[in-house]
Amino acid sequence: VQIRLEDYRPSDFLIDRVDLDVRLAPHDTRITARLALRANPAGRAGAPLVLDGDDLTLDGIELDGAPLSAEAYAASPAGLTLHAPPQGPFELTILTRVDPTANTKLMGLYRSNGVYCTQCEADGFRRITYFLDRPDVMAVYTTRIEAERAECPVLLGNGNPVEAGEIAGTGRHFAVWHDPHPKPAYLFALVGGALDRVAQDFTTMEGRTVAVAVYVEPGKGPRAAYALDAVIRSMRWDEEAFGRAYDLDVFNVVAVSDFNMGAMENKGLNVFNDKYVLASPETATDGDYAAIERIIAHEYFHNWSGNRVTCRDWFQLCLKEGLTVFRDQEFSSDMRSRAVHRIGEVRNLRARQFPEDAGPLRHPVRPGAYAEINNFYTATVYDKGAEIVRMLRTLVGADAFRAGMDRYFSDNDGTAATVEDFLAAFAAVTGRDLQPFARWYERPGTPALAVTRAYDAEARRYTLTFRQSLEAAGPPLVIPVALGLVGENGPLAGATSTSVSDGVFVLDTGTATVVFECVAEAPVPSVLRGFSAPVRLELDLTDAERLVLLRHDTDPFNRWQAAQGIAMRLILEPAAPGAGEAFADALGAFLDGEALADPAFAALVLSLPGEGEAANEIAADLDPDAIHAARTALRKALGTRLRPRLDALALALRASQDAPYSPDAASAGRRSLANACLDLIAAADPAAGTEGALLQLREARNMTDRLAALGVIAAIPGEAREAALSAFGATYADEPLVLDKWFAVQATIAEDGTPARIAALSRHPAFAMTNPNRVRALIANFAMGNPTQFARADGAGFALVAERIEALDRINPQLAARLLTAFSSWRRWENSRREKAAEILNRIKAIPALSRDVADIAARTLEAG
Ligand code: ARG
Ligand code: ZN
Repeated sequence: VQIRLEDYRPSDFLIDRVDLDVRLAPHDTRITARLALRANPAGRAGAPLVLDGDDLTLDGIELDGAPLSAEAYAASPAGLTLHAPPQGPFELTILTRVDPTANTKLMGLYRSNGVYCTQCEADGFRRITYFLDRPDVMAVYTTRIEAERAECPVLLGNGNPVEAGEIAGTGRHFAVWHDPHPKPAYLFALVGGALDRVAQDFTTMEGRTVAVAVYVEPGKGPRAAYALDAVIRSMRWDEEAFGRAYDLDVFNVVAVSDFNMGAMENKGLNVFNDKYVLASPETATDGDYAAIERIIAHEYFHNWSGNRVTCRDWFQLCLKEGLTVFRDQEFSSDMRSRAVHRIGEVRNLRARQFPEDAGPLRHPVRPGAYAEINNFYTATVYDKGAEIVRMLRTLVGADAFRAGMDRYFSDNDGTAATVEDFLAAFAAVTGRDLQPFARWYERPGTPALAVTRAYDAEARRYTLTFRQSLEAAGPPLVIPVALGLVGENGPLAGATSTSVSDGVFVLDTGTATVVFECVAEAPVPSVLRGFSAPVRLELDLTDAERLVLLRHDTDPFNRWQAAQGIAMRLILEPAAPGAGEAFADALGAFLDGEALADPAFAALVLSLPGEGEAANEIAADLDPDAIHAARTALRKALGTRLRPRLDALALALRASQDAPYSPDAASAGRRSLANACLDLIAAADPAAGTEGALLQLREARNMTDRLAALGVIAAIPGEAREAALSAFGATYADEPLVLDKWFAVQATIAEDGTPARIAALSRHPAFAMTNPNRVRALIANFAMGNPTQFARADGAGFALVAERIEALDRINPQLAARLLTAFSSWRRWENSRREKAAEILNRIKAIPALSRDVADIAARTLEAG
């Protein structure tokens, strides 16, 4: 059944207050919900009350304090209907019971490693009690939580703590939490368990003292320090950058070990996948630290973009997610290197969102219909959604953008809003018509932006012609194109164009021409600086021109892009003779000039496009083995030609690493360049690479360097590899998050033996199909990060993943559906692979009693087109 945006209508009833009493017990948790209801003036008069449920057992029901007769209602695990509810306001008391231990879907109330926790977005609250489980029904919640003190010394809820006490003689205790801010049910949360607390106060710009706390497994307190600091920095940054202050007396973050996604922004009580909280130099990499900082910020920023202003319906998901991703990107850019961060954002977008937009699962940033909303927490909604906000800022300028954000928050505070409300705030402060811009939300697919150029030396005039396209015909999109001209020997002075302001040309027609005057020499165009729009740029620069950009462009993104462009061409057209050498020499000159000045940027320039990124450039007859071979050959050629420099750089960078580990961006940048050097050295000379990696494994004093070394060794078959892998596994046998890295390294080995290795690792005592992090580490990394083995010509990779999907669907359908998206590019593979994939997809689709989650992805993946 499809739910459609155009069918939206307001709820017939509203819920003003919710009083919950939750008595936690491992298998038999009792929930009493007292709901203050009234008819919605905007709803249909005289309608029945239809409450959502999912897997619920009804234990009792009262209307205004009196038991309800059996004829007055109908209840099933999936819903509760009152046939003739009172006309005036009324109170409904509902008793339900659930089994948190048996809840392996990790939606609703479940137990993770003995800790009770909840996940209610998108529609998990209905697995706790019958409710109007839709985001436009907003209520004030009071939650009383009761549990055995020995099992759950810590009891947390939304809002502020108001009361706590013992229940004499029972060993049980309780806590009462009150959240004064009306919220939709998807932001409800509670936690109960034995947890350690690390805390710090923060005083808001409004003078409120907030007790900020991070709760983790007993003994892991020291590993929560970085996350705690990231919360404090996020609070300060949102005040400075957006004028947004926190609005409760406490802010709690809880790390749990079984979690379907990254984290969840429940009001005042963020629940996190522990992978995005716990960090120590011995167990977490630089990448982990950066991800923790980003996700902590993301969930905190939701307090305004998501909670204070929430979504009217789930079609508006990008309203909170795209905006909040944009906000967390800005935060990370301010905390770290803006240029380096932007390159990372774009790599991620191209690697994950572009293929989605080009395949059968494509959908608009604001979808028009869905069968299962949990399948729409996608790169398109999140990351392309963030790009739309970024383009909006580019179009209106930073000051008007900030004014528009202020206007959006103040006009919509306390409401459930729409994308139209968001754009209206910017239209109001700028006086612009944003209707044409709004097409970005509705139009699926990645537009191509084709650019042609002409230089008239006599007239000293340079002309760029732009043409936008999207297969789905329709009016043009509004594309901000940041651009500039670069001369052979440096920036080009004096060139002017009346269609470019602040370095941006706005393409809002199908084609347009930009004319530059006073252009003294034939320039190299630097187009789409900073990746100013999520498009595929079609601009046929020569390698020589790209090298001019790498040397002289003022825009770091396009400098990086220039090197990537050459590398991509060399991977896709491996036959081009000699070109690799010129590229290597240019990289060498670049490294000599600036590697040590900005190691993080240099590491990015040195790292080649991934196999997945390269595959995205191939529309049909894709052979992952050919891409792998071409990329490996290029790494080898670069490593060989750059060898003396790589050795010297690695040495210089290592020497500067004697200080104690710090996760800051500059230190991380030095490590990433040193490890990029080691990687290329190993590609050129496996023996030297093995030796260097073994030395680094022995001497590394942090997980970043240790794991990088393990990754290098893992690509070189032999006894040294097997010994290193087994030693690493033994060292970290009691560290599940480190074992995940070890699983991932082995899952991504591009060799025939990998499926057998994965089968063996699935029997490892630390592996469990019930734990999403383990499944992602071993199975999803294989399916999505090992193209030659997943898409093997013999079909063994597909079979392995399909078998896991089938097993997982009975445990955790959301996770199973995610895994299935690995097949979404199947139509682009060459014949034999394509046939095998189709066979497997049809087999999955035919499994009896398939979940809605997996059935939806399977059906859409197989749809023609
Ligand atoms: N709102 C969360 C975030 O972006 C994601 C929760 C998604 N959960 C789900 N079951 N689909 O941080
Ligand atoms: Zn989010």
